[in-house]
Amino acid sequence: MLKNKSLISPADFSIEQIEEVLELAEQIILNPGSYSDLCKGKLLASLFYEPSTRTKFSFDAAMERLGGSTVGFDDPMTSSMAKGETIADSARTVSQYADLIVVRHPKEGTARLMSQYAACPVINAGDGGHHHPTQTLTDLLTIRHYKGSFNGLTVGVCGDLMFGRTIHSLVTCLSRYAGVRFLFISPAELKMPAYVKQELDKKGIPYLETDDLELAMPKLSILYMSRVQRERFISEEEYLRLKDFFILTKLKMALAKSDMIVMHPLPRVNEIAVEVDDDPRAVYFEQVRLGMFVRMALILKLLGLDKFGA
Ligand code: CP
Repeated sequence: MLKNKSLISPADFSIEQIEEVLELAEQIILNPGSYSDLCKGKLLASLFYEPSTRTKFSFDAAMERLGGSTVGFDDPMTSSMAKGETIADSARTVSQYADLIVVRHPKEGTARLMSQYAACPVINAGDGGHHHPTQTLTDLLTIRHYKGSFNGLTVGVCGDLMFGRTIHSLVTCLSRYAGVRFLFISPAELKMPAYVKQELDKKGIPYLETDDLELAMPKLSILYMSRVQRERFISEEEYLRLKDFFILTKLKMALAKSDMIVMHPLPRVNEIAVEVDDDPRAVYFEQVRLGMFVRMALILKLLGLDKFGA
């Protein structure tokens, strides 16, 4: 049962609960019309303390396509935060109006804090460099769509592994499936945090670390690219030194298997050359599309409305 649960980290859901959401998303993709008024009369509040295109728009679109409505802000300075209101009081207040809160915040732990004070479920839409669980659901649906299952995959994650919350969430979640192995491809300064690697060590999940993308390419079932995030760096000089460390080009794609897929949570800056977009293995814009369906499924599950559309 997912009704009334909050989703702050992928670990909040069991594998079975994740599967439930993915299966419902697949049903919605096949027959979206039969879900179009299940959320009539329901209100989703989206509180974005940090910029977003995909997550904000896909949640808003998901709720609208389910027949519900949305309120919220994408500039926190237009909210009472500007007058010094605490996160706890904002959570208590907004949940008097809304049935579901979606929150993105630059500070790790904010979504969890909000869930402790809100009277309705809270979905973490990204908290600092910590987690982004609905991006992970999007990624899992994409992998299922293209690969059929998660077993036996060699997943290369490339770029900013230190601050990349989408990567932390995805690796933590995929490590719960049998037979997955990882290649962590990053500059030495942006390596995967120790807490993620310790979890993998505990579970006996194999992983290797490298800074050589070309060497990794032929081994991969999935290449998950990520952006070096300017907003997480204290030093602009360090950001400029590292931002173009990896650029995926047609030449590098030629080294990969014919059935490898390239994913990216987006936005991209320079790490995937535009020339790669036409390669059938580049699935990152389809990944965006699937993200709306998985959020529709999640909304229905947390509001306990999914059974009416089954
Ligand atoms: N993938 C993702 O979180 O994109 P946005 O920052 O545009 O929401």
